[in-house]
Amino acid sequence: MKRMTAAACAAVLTTAAYAQGPDPLAPTGRWTAYTAGRAATPPMGWNSWNAFASAVDEEKVMGSAKRIVDSGLARKGYRYINLDDGWAAGRRESDAHLMIRADKFPSTIARKQKTPSFRPYTDRLHAMGLKAGIYSDMGRNTCAQAWSATDTDLPKGSVAEREVGLHDHIEQDIALYFREWGFDYLKVDGCGLRDFGPNSPKVKAGQARELPPIMDLGAISRTDVPAVQDLFRRVGAAIERSRPDGDFIYSLCIWGAANVRAWAKDFGNTSRTSDDISPAWGRLLVNYDSAVHRALYAHPGSWNDPDMLHIGAGDFDADHLTEARSHFALWAMLNAPLLIGTDLRKTPDALMEILGNADIIALDQDAAGNQATVVYDSSDLHILVKTLSNGDKAVAIFNRGSGAMDVSLQATQLKYRADAPVEMTDLWTKKQISFTKDTNLRVAPRETLIFRARGTRALADGFYLSEQPGKVNPAVDGVARPFGLIGATE
Ligand code: GLA
Repeated sequence: MKRMTAAACAAVLTTAAYAQGPDPLAPTGRWTAYTAGRAATPPMGWNSWNAFASAVDEEKVMGSAKRIVDSGLARKGYRYINLDDGWAAGRRESDAHLMIRADKFPSTIARKQKTPSFRPYTDRLHAMGLKAGIYSDMGRNTCAQAWSATDTDLPKGSVAEREVGLHDHIEQDIALYFREWGFDYLKVDGCGLRDFGPNSPKVKAGQARELPPIMDLGAISRTDVPAVQDLFRRVGAAIERSRPDGDFIYSLCIWGAANVRAWAKDFGNTSRTSDDISPAWGRLLVNYDSAVHRALYAHPGSWNDPDMLHIGAGDFDADHLTEARSHFALWAMLNAPLLIGTDLRKTPDALMEILGNADIIALDQDAAGNQATVVYDSSDLHILVKTLSNGDKAVAIFNRGSGAMDVSLQATQLKYRADAPVEMTDLWTKKQISFTKDTNLRVAPRETLIFRARGTRALADGFYLSEQPGKVNPAVDGVARPFGLIGATE
């Protein structure tokens, strides 16, 4: 039986390894994963849900879209304007056509047609240089239909008329969204697959038809993973057919259920790793933790999604700039989609500055697509490092807790030599720091220091695995035979 040496276990991927002939552990540098759509870097833009929930309308959306353009955020990369749950009036019984809440979206009937159309709305966004996103659900009904406290903003009519989800309508709805209405981005939620069982209050009240759940967020044993995958594959194929130029984003939203964290990279461009964020520090930690150890599941084309930004509300409002900055810095280190979730018509300048920090946006949008890896993890302190396409490192020092900390940052944590200088720029203050071997930094409660660093590579002619998670998929591409696994028989 051949055992892996400690050096091989460390996954030091040197160029010399190629020269020595076939190496079963050599990476192919190739991802066998989703490459359709337009997600070479994580999508950026705005989404209506965190600010408005289902009480969304055209004025609110266009107001935020206008501010994105006027403030210069569009030039910095924010371009998808995504309508979340709340736009649908129902499904017409005669031909199953989806109907829009025209009272909320007046442009959809501006041409006096009988059937409202989002085409004038998407035309307007496109004319502003932006892209348009829309929301659906994989089941018959959406999440708001399962969970909303009131039915004011929900689809109306018979049970069948209220079935606005994709179930049994995949081809028709996808063609409507992408071909007829001109959307560029689809978020597909999963409440319809789990929340309309026989005990659902909506089913019991006769407001929704029962759909036996095939997914349970709390139990993989009550989840039919192949059935869930089959639906997501079918929707993806329909999108590709409806948008043959490939200019789309396909966003999966099943919160880590059905073990999606492991397979989403083969099915779509972004995938939610947790349940919904709320504007509370503890909730931010939960969402961050759901993605931070999953660097090997993100790569150009497909990204971990710890949910939309909640900057502008609660613990991340203008009275909590430390927390708001941490939220933004951490999402950039995670290569998360940067989807603003606040009413930009009212957002104070201090928060606009955070959202517009071009140096931090550049980390999220770096072409190498390496999600940061954790290089130090102790109770309330995380140090994250990511390798950028020009060889620089992004470094984040994250104090999760409520006490200030003195932190020693080591050159070796950056995979830089300890005997050569490291130059760093603080991406909030733009201050320069230079050190050799290590430096001490004070980090306030809930603060994230974030730097771009340059030093001398510890490994002169190769890369550590932790430096290239966006390029290497060891689970699929790199290991031909699982040598050295406990229990292996040869
Ligand atoms: C779910 C999703 C949210 C949002 C709502 C809409 O909760 O996770 O992001 O889309 O549904 O109802």
